[in-house]
Amino acid sequence: MANKEFVRDDGRKFDELRPMTAKVGVVPNADGSAMFSFGKTIAIAAVYGPKELHPRNQRDPAKGTLRCNYNMLSFSVEDRIRPGPSRRSTEISKITEWALGPVVMIDEYPNMVIDVHIQIIQASASTRCAGINAAAMALAHAGIPMKSIVSSVSVGKLDKQLILDVNKYEDSVFDEGEGATDIPITFTSDEKITHFQLDGKISNEQLKEVIEMARKARKEIYEVQKKALKEALN
Ligand code: CDP
Repeated sequence: MANKEFVRDDGRKFDELRPMTAKVGVVPNADGSAMFSFGKTIAIAAVYGPKELHPRNQRDPAKGTLRCNYNMLSFSVEDRIRPGPSRRSTEISKITEWALGPVVMIDEYPNMVIDVHIQIIQASASTRCAGINAAAMALAHAGIPMKSIVSSVSVGKLDKQLILDVNKYEDSVFDEGEGATDIPITFTSDEKITHFQLDGKISNEQLKEVIEMARKARKEIYEVQKKALKEALN
């Protein structure tokens, strides 16, 4: 059971998100763009397309292709990251496609591609969630038809304690500790799950608590995304 008195290194309650900021239209040359941050984790997403897919042999005449590219900038973390694709960035790019795939109405764009480029400007854990949140907003800003916006958050478990929106310090304690768990989850606005990852172990009972905690946070994240999108329309 989560301990309501538990206080975290940054002073948050166990079920408290970091302060969020969101802004739409941050990359004027893109067809759609957005920034989303959880505390010190900052993601920017830029959407290009729909446009004809090249090479032609990769085209799908039945539906379009959603292509996501997640990248962490060299200076986004304390130890410089070697530029270029890595196993981790390739995995997160794929996961981002899967998290967005169920809501993007890609059938409307046969033979076309929609490119979503996600750059992590500064990283303090949960970058995949921030990237997915920014990407959903950027796609909406680009006018791509979607069944819903998606909102993503991660829940961690430190020993027995569940914590919402894991930060870098907590993530590094996970790496040292045994049995530490990190669970990023993405929801549609009607609370269907489009993405769920489990790194570690969790009981069925505690998993229900995790989903409930993430579900409540989803509402708060969605409000921030919606407000930024509305501001861009004014
Ligand atoms: O960022 P996210 O939690 O989605 O993915 P992760 O692979 O669990 O990475 C957790 C955190 O570790 C990142 O957000 C960064 O703060 C940090 N990290 C790093 O410092 N250097 C790397 N090469 C990769 C991750």
